[in-house]
Amino acid sequence: MLLETRHLGRSFGGILALDNLRLQVPRGALYGLIGPNGAGKTTVFNLLSGFLQPSQGDILFGGHNITGLPPEQITRLGIARTFQNIRLFGDLSVLDNVLVGFHCRRRASWWQAALRFPGYLREERAQVSRSRALLEEVGLAEAAEEKAGQLPYGHQRRLEITRALATEPRLLLLDEPAAGLNPQETGELMDFLLTLRQEHRLTILVIEHNLRLVMGLCQLITVLDHGLTLAAGTPGEIRDNPAVIKAYLGGGVS
Ligand SMILES: Nc1ncnc2c1ncn2[C@@H]1O[C@H](COP(=O)(O)OP(=O)(O)OP(=O)(O)O)[C@@H](O)[C@H]1O
Ligand SMILES: [Mg+2]
Repeated sequence: MLLETRHLGRSFGGILALDNLRLQVPRGALYGLIGPNGAGKTTVFNLLSGFLQPSQGDILFGGHNITGLPPEQITRLGIARTFQNIRLFGDLSVLDNVLVGFHCRRRASWWQAALRFPGYLREERAQVSRSRALLEEVGLAEAAEEKAGQLPYGHQRRLEITRALATEPRLLLLDEPAAGLNPQETGELMDFLLTLRQEHRLTILVIEHNLRLVMGLCQLITVLDHGLTLAAGTPGEIRDNPAVIKAYLGGGVS
């Protein structure tokens, strides 16, 4: 397993947003996390990425207990995320947004940067060229100098994934990547994610309301409802699970 959680829980003011979550995400998997609004899905991502501290339980990543580590350390260990509401630096260029991702891998210290040491300048140049290569790979090279905030919505989503990739993750957490995309863009996103997983040897955990995407893409799925785990299994098992059908899908998955 690349990622495991044990008894993971978080409450807000006495209300359990997530209770006793046991996730087991195999290396290389595309893993889906689904459930109705308020089920606790984003809370899981906030816990895994260190944005929130758990009230109970442990998070194991690559066999190490990462519970309670701050976000920047978790990023360096190889977990990257995107946000349900896109968070880009809208006034910065597309290229600079990707560079921000690479910065977490920098070796040069701030004073070397301030004095523009040769080592710093070399590293900076290398990261610019790697950012351009990444933009080429994801089909955004022509927009490199544009302001991120001016990109079409679908491209902003793609850029946010690209910035996450720039941190060189082993595990990518995507919070509703298809939200706001039309069916054609959603299809393109599915191909994009499959290619990324292959090319970057990624494990991907994806939150998504679009069941066509989740069922078509993921090998394993966990269903949350009111913070509780309703079911976990293959798409076939989830589709046939009576509790899932009753509580979440209200009659079946197409
Ligand atoms: N920082 C917070 N402070 C207080 N309550 C919170 C906080 N974050 C989440 N919650 C609550 O925890 C519950 C789970 O929220 P969460 O955002 O994880 O749900 P979700 O499954 O991502 O829902 P959605 O599909 O709407 O994005 C909700 O009741 C929410 O109001
Ligand atoms: Mg959410």
